Parts: sequence; structure tokens; C-alpha cells
Amino acid sequence: MINEDRIRELLNPVQDPHIHKTFEETDAIENIKIKEDKNHVSIKIALAEPNSGEQMQLQQEIVGMLKKEGVQTVGLRFTQLPDEKRDEYVQAANQEQEANLIGQTGTTFISIASGKGGVGKSTVTVNLAVALARLGKKVGIVDADIYGFSVPDMMGIENRPQVRGEKIIPVERFGVQIISMGFFVEDNSPIIWRGPMLGKMLTSFFKEVEWGDLDYLLLDLPPGTGDIALDVQELLPSHKQVIVTTPHPTAAFVAARAGQMAFKADHEIVGIVENMAYFESTLTGQKEYVFGEGGGDKLAEVLDTDILGRLPLQQPYDEQDTFAPGVYQEDHPTGKMFLNMANKLMKRTK
Ligand SMILES: Nc1ncnc2c1ncn2[C@@H]1O[C@H](COP(=O)(O)OP(=O)(O)OP(=O)(O)O)[C@@H](O)[C@H]1O
Ligand SMILES: [Mg+2]
Repeated sequence: MINEDRIRELLNPVQDPHIHKTFEETDAIENIKIKEDKNHVSIKIALAEPNSGEQMQLQQEIVGMLKKEGVQTVGLRFTQLPDEKRDEYVQAANQEQEANLIGQTGTTFISIASGKGGVGKSTVTVNLAVALARLGKKVGIVDADIYGFSVPDMMGIENRPQVRGEKIIPVERFGVQIISMGFFVEDNSPIIWRGPMLGKMLTSFFKEVEWGDLDYLLLDLPPGTGDIALDVQELLPSHKQVIVTTPHPTAAFVAARAGQMAFKADHEIVGIVENMAYFESTLTGQKEYVFGEGGGDKLAEVLDTDILGRLPLQQPYDEQDTFAPGVYQEDHPTGKMFLNMANKLMKRTK
């Protein structure tokens, strides 16, 4: 009859399907009972995610292994690993997955989301990226708004990415590495693709691009909680998120939906940007809250985070020699606010 040592020897190298660690590493085998008279073995195993489809498969695999050793009947019971241990392993597995995506570790992924369109996600993405680069960080942008890409236009990018071997080299502007669907579309003609193709495109933006060594990779998301937001969730299970809203209370309400999604997926929301928060008269310096007030605060409360910054209604300066209509200059009042937000972001994502 099989003994406990032999059972451990057999099961130790089996992997927990959700965290890619062996039972030996997670100390998963909690209990083994052998009933010699009935040729029966019962085992209790702790998994990161019990009651999943993978568990069923695992069950069959283990029963098969033991029967091969002559055991007649097998009773398996699954429990969950202690929360703390589980979280630690899940986090490590997520980070490994994210590192594999761009072939390097140590990059912080931050997506910029909103409930509604047109509230300034792309503006925030581009200017936060430029601000982080101005502060000496190595930064990339994935323009994940595959239908409604706007990053190349905002940054005034005219050139196209080069290809080296099998990889695409991102376009660099203001010290930021950029990849966008806009680089692969002729004459700005609209593109109509279906979901699965879009999903693949997004993956390619990570895997087939030579990102090099990055401190931050920012993702400009399309508005709302659609397919792409879900794909991003799956590809980058533990990334961070910044949520953009206007100060109107209803806008914040809509943004809360995007935020709730992050909540459910265990993302950390690192802060809210309230955009178009007020208009400041250049003549009198008086602030007018043209789109209402309180939306950002309300959202921060609902999502248990705080305000990263409040941006006034103001366009970047017109410049003759550098064309980048969406990028605020370093000495522009809004440009300074972005530096301030980038500093906060760096502290929060350490
Ligand atoms: N604080 C601001 N002051 C003045 N104009 C702004 C401000 N923020 C954004 N804009 C302008 O508003 C428009 C919409 O901004 P942006 O494209 O960044 O929004 P978005 O949320 O990315 O939109 P979409 O949902 O279409 O992707 C742009 O023309 C942008 O220049
Ligand atoms: Mg946009």
C-alpha cells in the first residue's frame, strides 16, 4: 500500500494552476489520510483559486496518478490558501505575466480611463507621460484607443515607426516612446475591425514592440468599459489606473462605473484627475466653475482615492517651431500642474 511519503513525492511537483507554483512551494498539501483496509486515500489540498475549471482538471490528474500506484479510491478536498499567502502569490504571478508582455521587469503600467468620452484622457495621458520624461523617467505610451487614436496628432508626430528584425521600434517624441494605431493607418481613414482583431492588435502593441527599458508605460484607453478595457484588464492584471472626469456630478457618476470595474479587478486606482475644473479669466484672474463643481471629490469618495490634480480650461501656447497641439509647455501653468501630478504619481507607484 502506498504511504504518505510516496504521496508527497508524487504531488509535490504538481503546479497550482493559477499561480504557477508547485504544491511543495505553496505548502499546499494540508492533510493525507490512508485507509489500508479499504485501499483508500484522502487528501486535502489548498489552492489559490478553488472551485475553478482548472481544479476539475487537476482533480482528474491527481486521481489518475494515485490509481496508477494501485490506490483503489481517492477522496480529494480543496480549500483556499490563506489570504495573505494567496495575495502574495497572485501578485507575483501577475507581475511575471506583465513583465513577459514587454520582456522586462520593473515597469509600472498605468492606464488612463474615464466613463465618458471627450473628458481629456488623451490629454492627461500625453501630458503625464511628457511630465514624467521631463522628470527624468523612461516613459512609453500605448495608444489603446484603437478606433479613436489621437496621441500622434496631439503630440504632432509625423514620422512612422521603424521595423528592426521582427520588432517595431516606437516613435520617440519629447523623450517619450509612442505606439498608436494611427501609425498604421493610411490617410487617416477610419478603421472598422471586429473585437478579436482588436484584441490581437493590443497584444501586438506590447509584444511586438521593442520597448526597451521603461520605468512607466501609460495606456490611453477608449472611453467607458468596453472590450478594450477588458482586454487590458486581462493582459495587465495588476496595473494601476488614473481616472479622468469633469467636475459635473453626473460625469463623475459615469466615471464611477469605470472605476468600479477597476475595483472588481483588484486594480489600484492611484488618483482622479478633474479636468476642465474651472475657467480662469486672464483679465481678472477670477475662477468660474463653468462645468459645475464637486464631481472629482464625489468620485474620489466613491472610489476611496483622492484627487491627483484639477486642471483649468486652457489650451497649450501656440508655438511656431514645435508643432504638438496637445502638449503643454514646461512653463505653461497647466504644464507645471502636470509636473506636480507626475511627482505625486511617482510617489504613489513606488
Ligand atoms: N483642460 C483643458 N482645457 C482645454 N481644452 C481641453 C482640456 N482638456 C482637454 N481639452 C480638449 O478637449 C478635447 C478632448 O480631449 P481629449 O481628446 O484629451 O479627451 P478624451 O477623453 O481622450 O476623448 P476621447 O474619449 O474621444 O478619447 C481635445 O480637443 C482637447 O484638446
Ligand atoms: Mg482619447
